[in-house]
Amino acid sequence: MNTLDDATRLAYLKEMGITVWQSRTAAANTVDTVPAGNTSTSPMTPKAVESQGDKKQTWIQLLDEIMHCQKCHLAKTRNKIVPGVGDTNADWLFIGEGPGFYEDQQGEPFVGKSGQLLDNMLLSLDLVRGRNVYIANIVKCRASEAGKDRQPTEEESAICMPFLEKQIALIAPKIIVALGKTAACALLRISREPSLSSLRKKVHTYEQGGMTIPLVITYHPSYLLRTPQGKAQAWEDLCLAMDTLEGIQNAN
Ligand code: URA
Repeated sequence: MNTLDDATRLAYLKEMGITVWQSRTAAANTVDTVPAGNTSTSPMTPKAVESQGDKKQTWIQLLDEIMHCQKCHLAKTRNKIVPGVGDTNADWLFIGEGPGFYEDQQGEPFVGKSGQLLDNMLLSLDLVRGRNVYIANIVKCRASEAGKDRQPTEEESAICMPFLEKQIALIAPKIIVALGKTAACALLRISREPSLSSLRKKVHTYEQGGMTIPLVITYHPSYLLRTPQGKAQAWEDLCLAMDTLEGIQNAN
């Protein structure tokens, strides 16, 4: 249940650079609702019935696998691998593209400027990094060219994706938020052809091994830093995700 009062949320939204307040209901009404029959509010596949001990062991093995990965050439230039961070029993899973310069230095996703914005986006949802939210990327190693961050290729994304799939199976989040086109298209298993804006305003589903998880797509924080006018739309997307999760919780 969301307990953030409007004044506090407004302060966080201001931090995000959003000066237009829209109530959650109003924002949700501006977006397409989930098409009938698309049961975004349908019961989720129950979380894995593994015992907590087994789950912890599986996480340790997975992290070890990720930390030693040599599956692609990004391994040669990485400084630190960035597996992901947060609550491994989280309802919320935010997925970005891949580590940049700062993340590669620190081994944690979203620690640069875009990370500060992401933290404010989380706060506007009454979420704090590490509590009821897990943050991961499609690729775990920095992709760069001539010292500059670059978008990971579709091939690099495909090679790394099994790690994220295992993370998703273990976390079994109730809602996934894809940050940007790289994450959106990898999770939908489609080419990067469609525009990000054509993928917004809709609850998609992420399907994996019998799990069906609602997936909401929004702009990447780096894009929002360059294009602040997109922040109001990103807020609408977050409202859609929040309403979707509340719908699931109310149905259970
Ligand atoms: N951009 C991303 O997509 N992920 C990060 O971890 C940092 C920047």
